Amino acid sequence: MEKPIIYSAVQPSGNLTIGNYVGAIRNWVNLQDSYDCFFSIADMHAITVRQEPAELRRRTLELAALYIACGVDPEKCVLYVQSQVPAHAALCWVLNTVTYVGEASRMTQFKDKSQKHADNINMGLMDYPVLMAADILLYRAAAVPVGADQKQHVELARDLAVRFNNRFGETFVVPEPLIFRGGAKIASLLEPTKKMSKSEENPNASVFLSDDRDTVIRKFKRAVTDSGSEVRYAEDKPGISNLLNIYCAFKGCTLAEAEKEFEGKGYGDFKIAVGETVADVIAPVQAEQKRLLSDKKELAAYLVSGRDRAAYAARKTLSKVYRKIGFWEA
Ligand code: TYM
Repeated sequence: MEKPIIYSAVQPSGNLTIGNYVGAIRNWVNLQDSYDCFFSIADMHAITVRQEPAELRRRTLELAALYIACGVDPEKCVLYVQSQVPAHAALCWVLNTVTYVGEASRMTQFKDKSQKHADNINMGLMDYPVLMAADILLYRAAAVPVGADQKQHVELARDLAVRFNNRFGETFVVPEPLIFRGGAKIASLLEPTKKMSKSEENPNASVFLSDDRDTVIRKFKRAVTDSGSEVRYAEDKPGISNLLNIYCAFKGCTLAEAEKEFEGKGYGDFKIAVGETVADVIAPVQAEQKRLLSDKKELAAYLVSGRDRAAYAARKTLSKVYRKIGFWEA
């Protein structure tokens, strides 16, 4: 029997944070045996904000190496660079014609990014979720493992799939967002009501997967905490609650277990423990990423094979779409 299909991606738009790791990539690894997985490096999404070309190219390879270093098996999964498969842009164009400007302009991330990049509100920024829908629908994905911030985009992909199917007949699989509890919403260390982001300007607000042990521990030591002294998960303690979430996600324990472990201990001890736990998990990932980047041939071979497998699957869906909408094909 064919396995259900999973699709997900990360943009090579900055240094990846521990939020990207526990909210997304780490969960992919647990899915790769039970699903047919497609994981891309979303470089076409990345250029919706200005990128330095040489840096974008370097980050693309670094991200591919990171996927593998986190445990994504490039032989089991299809791992590729989005811009290498032209069908993404082609399907995005078709989907644009069933997307309303109103719904695209209501997307939370579009509104946030328009504010943040007020001097560069380009068409791509608004079209971003439609391209993401094209990514997902091209591969007939049943589920899309993402962090909570991408849920609205996956819901748009669902709406577009249903709308297209209603208008042109059964074509797309309607995807579900797959959001894992715990790591789905890692917050900034300095403003714990905001998400931890790779494009954050203050480097102390985010813990990057490339940070060395001392830096990781230092950042956690400086993390903003709340009044009081008890290590307890509570709505009015966003700082400590975020650190507890991070601790549990990296330690693999429950909130109750963590609270028990730190009963009677102060914030200081707890913050050091969080830092050490995170540093212990990311150190081997960094070492493996470094090894992979030292032999670009091996990495390129994985990406070429991934591109070919992705292009084959994508072309099949695109042909079906073209037939349905009345495009001529020989
Ligand atoms: P991106 O690159 O912003 O983030 C990649 C993944 O990391 C998750 N994430 C987080 N999870 C928990 N806590 C955080 N602080 C945190 N920050 C980020 C994101 O939810 C995401 O799962 N548009 C997507 C990339 C994309 C995509 C796709 C995803 C392009 N095409 C198709 C799924 C399917 C994005 O910008 O992710």
